[in-house]
Amino acid sequence: AAPPVLDQLGRPLRDLRISVMDRCNLRCPYCMPEEKFGPSYRFLPPAERLDFDEVTRLARLAVSLGVSKIRLTGGEPLLRPHLPQLVGRLAVLEGVRDLALTTNGVLLARQAKALRQAGLSRVTVSLDALDDGVFAAMSGHRGAAATVVAGLEAALEAGFPGGVKLNSVVRRGVNEGEVVKLARWGRDHGVPVRFIEYMDAGTRNGWNRAEVVPALEIKRLAEQLGPLEPLVPAYRGEVARRWRYKDGQGEIGLISSVTQPFCSGCTRMRLSSDGKLYGCLFATKGVDVRALLRAPTPATDEAIVAVLARFWGARTDRYSELRGQGRAQDPQTADGVAAPGRIEMNYIGG
Ligand code: GTP
Ligand code: 5AD
Ligand code: SF4
Ligand code: SF4
Repeated sequence: AAPPVLDQLGRPLRDLRISVMDRCNLRCPYCMPEEKFGPSYRFLPPAERLDFDEVTRLARLAVSLGVSKIRLTGGEPLLRPHLPQLVGRLAVLEGVRDLALTTNGVLLARQAKALRQAGLSRVTVSLDALDDGVFAAMSGHRGAAATVVAGLEAALEAGFPGGVKLNSVVRRGVNEGEVVKLARWGRDHGVPVRFIEYMDAGTRNGWNRAEVVPALEIKRLAEQLGPLEPLVPAYRGEVARRWRYKDGQGEIGLISSVTQPFCSGCTRMRLSSDGKLYGCLFATKGVDVRALLRAPTPATDEAIVAVLARFWGARTDRYSELRGQGRAQDPQTADGVAAPGRIEMNYIGG
């Protein structure tokens, strides 16, 4: 294989996160607050979205540059019509050793089997609360915890070879009380639960540092179930720091982008559903590769690979580290004026 492309900070390109849909059937206030994503919000029209030929082609070319891990995200990816067809095409690409999906789980009970049959390796389900009232507060009063739990159970039953994980964003004063319950649910079902510090993503969630529950504090909450011991990272640059209960039953992960940034191990390239490349969750500008694919004289594979390699080679992103040093510009608060639009989570998919 060709030597890996390194970015300006020496980080290899390993992961491709593909957003396939900017819409979502929930309105989590920390991501898509209803008042900012209401009926007049302009989501991407379907023709703007890359089709499955285009996504598959870009994925194949990214793999030729070192990508071995692909994750499908949204918004909510299960809203994308015929998603299992795309899964099937990505699953057979040579060099893809891990094909994962991040979903809010609402539509998962219906689709788990088809996704498994299409070749999906594993599923990560977002669930911020088991209690109905707290779930409603976290999801913007749409969906229900029981529906997501049914999705999780369907995924477990489908038997994904890479397993099932659960992701929970924690907001102070809203769902801290669910941490222990979620950890217990995971422990009882053999599902690792990863708790995520609330991040200043996008420009619409009105993020406030006071609402961040630091990972260390989350860990103390989870320890109400029993003492934890650290696990060694499963791969270089792993996002979650993993801990397991000392009795051997159950594992949690802590994703501490705010209190302990992990940019130095960040090997992730992101592709939006309308075909723009981003080097960071907090990017403000992307590179339009769809224009190359759809040009009157479509670009050759070689030309696209050259664009991808140049993009990665020029990458300097390390937003969370800069934020940690107080050097990041916060477009939500900078002089009260919105700086040039930092991309939104529903658009780039976490
Ligand atoms: P695994 O491959 O299972 O380890 O998954 P992952 O942790 O790489 O991906 P996942 O989508 O499960 O990530 C969970 C959450 O962590 C995301 O929804 C984001 O909130 C956050 N996250 C993931 N990658 C990054 C990143 O590169 N930067 C930051 N700041 N947050 C990230
Ligand atoms: N901070 C942390 N995580 C977030 N997510 C969405 N918005 C934020 C935010 N502001 C998470 C979702 C889901 C994943 C796709 O991204 O809860 O787990
Ligand atoms: Fe909530 Fe995920 Fe939908 Fe955002 S994309 S509103 S975090 S379910
Ligand atoms: Fe990667 Fe940007 Fe997240 Fe840092 S803030 S880990 S560079 S996506």
